[in-house]
Amino acid sequence: MQKISLNIPQPDITYDIEFLKTFSELEKNLKSQINGRNYIIITDENVFSKTAFFQNIKKSFLEENRILVLKPGEEEKTWSSIDKILEKSFKLELDRSSVFVAIGGGVIGDMTGFAASLFMRGVPVIQVPTTLLSMTDSSVGGKTGIDNKHGKNLVGAFMQPEKVICVQAFLETLPKVEIQNGLGEMIKHGIIASPNHFKHIKNTSKFWNQDEFLQQIFQLVPESVKIKKNIVEQDQKEAGIRGFLNLGHTYGHAIEQLSDFKIPHGRAVAIGCILATQKSISENLCDENLIKTLEEIFTLFEIDTKCEFKMDKILNAMTHDKKKKNGKIRLILPLEIGKVKYFDLQ
Ligand code: GLY
Repeated sequence: MQKISLNIPQPDITYDIEFLKTFSELEKNLKSQINGRNYIIITDENVFSKTAFFQNIKKSFLEENRILVLKPGEEEKTWSSIDKILEKSFKLELDRSSVFVAIGGGVIGDMTGFAASLFMRGVPVIQVPTTLLSMTDSSVGGKTGIDNKHGKNLVGAFMQPEKVICVQAFLETLPKVEIQNGLGEMIKHGIIASPNHFKHIKNTSKFWNQDEFLQQIFQLVPESVKIKKNIVEQDQKEAGIRGFLNLGHTYGHAIEQLSDFKIPHGRAVAIGCILATQKSISENLCDENLIKTLEEIFTLFEIDTKCEFKMDKILNAMTHDKKKKNGKIRLILPLEIGKVKYFDLQ
């Protein structure tokens, strides 16, 4: 089994991110990780109804009454869901020696991590991400939280998981747009830190729309996780370089918002990367050809990078972004594949 160890020196936190192929491997691994502790599993209706992992639950060690199935979707990322998780945990008589398990995408992972940070002032959480996006991004690094009327992820806590378990079999039930959402993040990792990773992702495009693609792309998830791990180890709380992971996201969040969240996250990040590159070119920070390189890779995965919103509207929506620094909007601009820098908009 392949695994990556993440170590944050201060405070000293170490955990593994493991990569498995099948649900039977997951079951064995989860059983040994829970290791007799009292537990709660939090998932959503989509994952619960569509994945063979939960369909075979009666044959597994998991007890059905310990599974809380929430409604899917970003609009469920609220205090009310956190309340449901906490209530169920009290009903199950969980205590400080218990463990929370998130089996879902970013919304489930973020909420479960946040609820775990609150329950009895903090219990461990195991993250089992079920989307390509949550495997490569949100399950690793300990950012947890909920949305409120002021914006996305504005209330939360840093709560590093006890373990992250990525399982290829979860990818098989995902719609294409979910795979594209994950690809958006993985390509972003390549642009931030690794021309090789960028090239490897591009190479998998030969298998796009073929069954083999999922296996090919899953093999590259550890490369993405390593890039994120290296950044989080140096800067858990985003005082510096962790902000590089926001490449494409400041523009991207504004675009998602302007489209009433009809533009999916992967496409919004892709458009964000193109807009950041255009800005970088206009500031003479990178070569003009970088735009073509980025458009080419996104197009190979059928991610449309055309932006239908005017820049003044995007900038206006961006002023509400939490990635502001001293009142200024802070962008991440690419210099070349594998290299980015901060840029404060004046
Ligand atoms: N998703 C960006 C980060 O974890 O910092």
